[in-house]
Amino acid sequence: MSLSIVVVGYGRLGAALCTELYRLRYTIKGIFGKSKTSTQRLTHDSDIQYHDPSQYSLCRYADIVFITTPDDVIQQVCESIARDQGFTSHSVVFHCSGALTSEILSSARKYGASTGTMHPLQSFSIQKTEQNRFKDIYIAIEGDPVAVETAKKLANDLQSHPFILQTSAKIFYHAAAVVASNYLITLVNMSLQLLEKTGMNKHDGISLLMPLIQGTIENVKKSGTDQALTGPIARGDIDILSKHITAIKEDIPELLDLYVWLGRYTIEIAKLSPKLSSNSVSCLEYLFNNSFGNNKSKIKNQKSENL
Ligand SMILES: NC(=O)c1ccc[n+]([C@@H]2O[C@H](COP(=O)([O-])OP(=O)(O)OC[C@H]3O[C@@H](n4cnc5c(N)ncnc54)[C@H](OP(=O)(O)O)[C@@H]3O)[C@@H](O)[C@H]2O)c1
Repeated sequence: MSLSIVVVGYGRLGAALCTELYRLRYTIKGIFGKSKTSTQRLTHDSDIQYHDPSQYSLCRYADIVFITTPDDVIQQVCESIARDQGFTSHSVVFHCSGALTSEILSSARKYGASTGTMHPLQSFSIQKTEQNRFKDIYIAIEGDPVAVETAKKLANDLQSHPFILQTSAKIFYHAAAVVASNYLITLVNMSLQLLEKTGMNKHDGISLLMPLIQGTIENVKKSGTDQALTGPIARGDIDILSKHITAIKEDIPELLDLYVWLGRYTIEIAKLSPKLSSNSVSCLEYLFNNSFGNNKSKIKNQKSENL
């Protein structure tokens, strides 16, 4: 017999999860939204039952309860379901936040339920698609042993790659995801802002940057970050970097701190290459650590002292 699920919070992820598990012939016992009508508006699947929070007690009839509300109300929603006797010792309860752990589901554990988290490392929009949006993505799992085993089965059925995280390490995992996804956008935006100084608009700038970004990502994929690093920091090209800093300082000073902090971090990667001499590393560090003054002459002096 197939496992049965309820989804509490029918938004971007809740809808995607529900659609895919329905295709996989899991029994969808019901969907809960803030109000029955707002949830119903989102889908036309006539054989799915829509409920509002006054009916949380019905969750007890499902094997698996997914709480896919926004992060800041997960704990509160779990407590409401628990208060309405919506959990039993057979329930397995998940939330899908990347940052929060299964500890916030403690109200379900009081009823003997198993608790865990399943975080798909992907961005979901509300649009429905024929494709399985979980195929080949990674799903981070943590929780008690029953929840972990259930999550692995769900992830395998969804054709995802499950992997287990230590509960205490989850916050670092989420910070890593924010850096890789959100901060990548920040970096692209910063690059576009610099390109605007050449007279290029953002639309053309994106076209121009895309092959470079994709090539860089391919290089990271093939050989890791230290091998993939190219450019003036990897070459120890102090004069060019000094010109960047001067130009940014004069024309877009609001980007200077970010440029300098990223440069300082990039030196740490460049240092791992035997190609960069210790003299170049010292000059790079001097330049970036003193980038708010007029460093060029000081760097030149240091260069000649080190020769
Ligand atoms: N979207 C993603 O790409 C993604 C990826 C990985 C993980 N996640 C995680 O998935 C969870 C949901 O994120 P989301 O992006 O899908 O959020 P979302 O699109 O904002 O959907 C949340 C849904 O929960 C409903 N809701 C809010 N309060 C509720 C309550 N008290 N009772 C029942 N339903 C309630 C909302 O209804 P209204 O619309 O009426 O407010 C909305 O339908 C979060 O934990 C998030 O961290 C999301």
